[in-house]
Amino acid sequence: MLGTYHLGLSVSELAKLPAIEVEAVDRGTKHRYTGILVWDILNQFRAQLGDALPDSVPSIVVRVTGPDNYSVDFALTEFDPAFSDRSIVLAERQDGSPLPENALPFRFLSGVTEEHGSYNQHSATEAAGGALALPLLEKAARDLVLDPDDRPVVVVDYGSSQGKNSLAPMRAAIAILRKRTSARRPICVVHVDLAENDFSTLFGVLHSSADSYLSQDQDVFPSAVGRSFYRPVLPPGHVHLGWSSYAAVWLSRAPTMVPGHFWIPSSTGAVRAAFGLQAVEDWKTFLKLRARELRAGGRLVVVLPSAPDEGKLQIHAGMNHINAVLAEMVAEGAIAAEERERMLLLSYPRSTSELLAPFARGGRFENLVVEQREIFKVQDPGWMDYERDQDREKLAAKHTGFFRATFMPSLASALASDRGAEGRQFFIDRLADGLKKRLVAEPMPLDLLAQAILLAKEAHK
Ligand SMILES: C[S@@+](CC[C@H](N)C(=O)[O-])C[C@H]1O[C@@H](n2cnc3c(N)ncnc32)[C@H](O)[C@@H]1O
Repeated sequence: MLGTYHLGLSVSELAKLPAIEVEAVDRGTKHRYTGILVWDILNQFRAQLGDALPDSVPSIVVRVTGPDNYSVDFALTEFDPAFSDRSIVLAERQDGSPLPENALPFRFLSGVTEEHGSYNQHSATEAAGGALALPLLEKAARDLVLDPDDRPVVVVDYGSSQGKNSLAPMRAAIAILRKRTSARRPICVVHVDLAENDFSTLFGVLHSSADSYLSQDQDVFPSAVGRSFYRPVLPPGHVHLGWSSYAAVWLSRAPTMVPGHFWIPSSTGAVRAAFGLQAVEDWKTFLKLRARELRAGGRLVVVLPSAPDEGKLQIHAGMNHINAVLAEMVAEGAIAAEERERMLLLSYPRSTSELLAPFARGGRFENLVVEQREIFKVQDPGWMDYERDQDREKLAAKHTGFFRATFMPSLASALASDRGAEGRQFFIDRLADGLKKRLVAEPMPLDLLAQAILLAKEAHK
């Protein structure tokens, strides 16, 4: 998308561009795709634009929209062979034949949480995991290198959602930083999330909540960036302290689909391997970008749900219930089979070894050094109440709220676009209702594992 310019290439002009072949996995099967490098197509547009090309190439966004109106935005540089080792191709043929009707479409699968403050009300589990990692954040705030002048100290919350779970970590970090600085040195807190995030709720919470980090200190300045953290979100060398809790578990894109399910950990074989590779690439991208944004001597703390080395995550049973309810909804005609097939949760809980893999050589990656890492068992607050009151309805309502607020909006993003907001709401209500009935019948604890890593950017580079 180039401002308001209208550019086009005819089929015969496209046919003149060099065709290339790439191998990729679609729904678990490897295929050979023939097509044109999107970079070559963009270069044709560049030639048509001539001097009208905007100066700021890095700010150009390319929006790819499929026939079903799903669209996804790419930074221009993602297509540039000089910046990326991926070949992004406009494919025309699969294994020598025209692409099948159901070829994997582009779509949004973002992990954006349920709006109108719903995530804030139903994220006690994530809050409990984040709380266990606070000592790492406090250590980071104590140890980070602070320049002696009075320029603002920058703290960034990557993947903030609606802000409630950011209050305690930001308060803890600010309390320590304030002791290390003059009383009036500005502290800037930047909340980063996807553009679709419910930022109005976030600012409402910051300005009205009694435990907001703003209530005690008038020299703290909040702001937000609506942009994926798989792109640069702040200038190089800008950030003193980064915090990211339960966010980098969301992958940037789907390399394939999970046959018969929507939950990556339920996949096996080549499908599992394709997501594993995507998770490796995304984690390295996340770290590289944060390393660039951190100042020398800065610190980054990342908290993530952890996959056990053996056995299944406890959350798995809930995901299977949701899968069963989705099958009921297809059978009832509440959703179409194609809509169900498009559903995928891009959440990928990593094992400890996957988390540490980039640091395998001497504990360093991109000027980042591992200072500390921890693994925690996050006790289910709802189950502790249930053991006292034996109230199945209440427990099921709490667990349903967690699945609903965190995961269901991503599933709803696969619905046909003409269903609109009302259709998506109906879908979420029906899915949550079906899940709750199943959870009332089978109460279970949702004890999860979390892991946290504290990284320091080397001071001398
Ligand atoms: C489960 S919430 C975690 C919120 C909060 N940090 C917490 O600990 O409760 C995950 C958040 O990560 C955001 N997220 C997912 N992918 C992202 C991306 N690529 N860039 C920025 N934010 C992203 C989602 O929109 C969502 O708000």
